[in-house]
Amino acid sequence: MIDSVRIVEVGPRDGLQSIEETIPTGEKVKYIDMLSEAGCPEIEVTSFVSPKWVPQLADCSDVSSRIHRNENSTYTALVPNLQGLELALENGFRSVAVFTAASVTFSQKNTNCTIEESMKRFETMIPIWEENQMRVRAYISTCWVCPYEGNVGAESVVNVIQDLLDLGVHEISLGDTIGKATPEDVEYLLQIIFDNWPPETFALHMHDTFNMASENVTVGLGMGVRTLDSSAGGVGGCPYAPGASGNIATETAVRICHEQGFETGINIDKLKAAGTFIQSILPS
Ligand code: HMG
Ligand code: MG
Repeated sequence: MIDSVRIVEVGPRDGLQSIEETIPTGEKVKYIDMLSEAGCPEIEVTSFVSPKWVPQLADCSDVSSRIHRNENSTYTALVPNLQGLELALENGFRSVAVFTAASVTFSQKNTNCTIEESMKRFETMIPIWEENQMRVRAYISTCWVCPYEGNVGAESVVNVIQDLLDLGVHEISLGDTIGKATPEDVEYLLQIIFDNWPPETFALHMHDTFNMASENVTVGLGMGVRTLDSSAGGVGGCPYAPGASGNIATETAVRICHEQGFETGINIDKLKAAGTFIQSILPS
């Protein structure tokens, strides 16, 4: 039986959120439609966050209503709080991603609350998740290194995982927010996590600031990870994580998967066209 890897395309959200020049909504829609055409199984379309905090994605509703939703793809929206969840629901999303961190300073800088307070925000969302049978993924940023606090201990990550699973989230994406984790660091943390929970619950979300993302996802795949977040064209970064660059490029993630004999269901030529398109419209 051929094993498959699920790629979660985060370019339209993570890739675009920190670009300062306003990207026309039509260009975002075109990028997302090209990703759908390429067969991406899940696309994180946008985020319903405060437009004051992330001005680039202030057109979240417009983008959401204009994209062509392919029945074979899941379309996900990033939401920080109840207000964001309600907006995502109104805009047709049944898959959302919440986000918190393993280091408190990052949580404060990114969402103006502590980790515990972010869990309380998520708790208020539960009735809506349940009533609407929504699929919920949760990001944990700074699983290895925090741009403000430095190295983050595995115990902090494990505690956040436990709290998120207690809330009933379906998948947890482990973020190397500033791309500083080494393959050894990845192996160390995943071993601890997989001693407690099955690898199928987790995704890897590796930023490629120091060119370690390829090696890091390879380590993850070897340990049983079967969901990878990536960004077509390698674009990305978090406005509240100084020094962070893009996620591992989807083109690279797919190549690694295919070379290792995993199926992704993604058409590499169409994917490359989407990556080339988005790079061509971004400021150099
Ligand atoms: P706050 O200022 O504490 O919020 O921000 P508030 O509840 O006091 O509300 C202030 C104003 O924001 C109000 O408007 C609210 O209506 C509005 P005003 O009365 O001033 O006109 N507001 C909203 N508007 C639209 N949508 C909403 C929403 N919520 C409140 N959902 C808040 C708290 C969480 C809102 C803010 O900190 C925020 O939006 N943060 C998001 C930051 C962000 O998007 N960061 C990047 C994504 S995370 C990431 O990139 C990491 C990841 O990729 C993984 C990794 O790489 O590690 C996921
Ligand atoms: Mg990210």
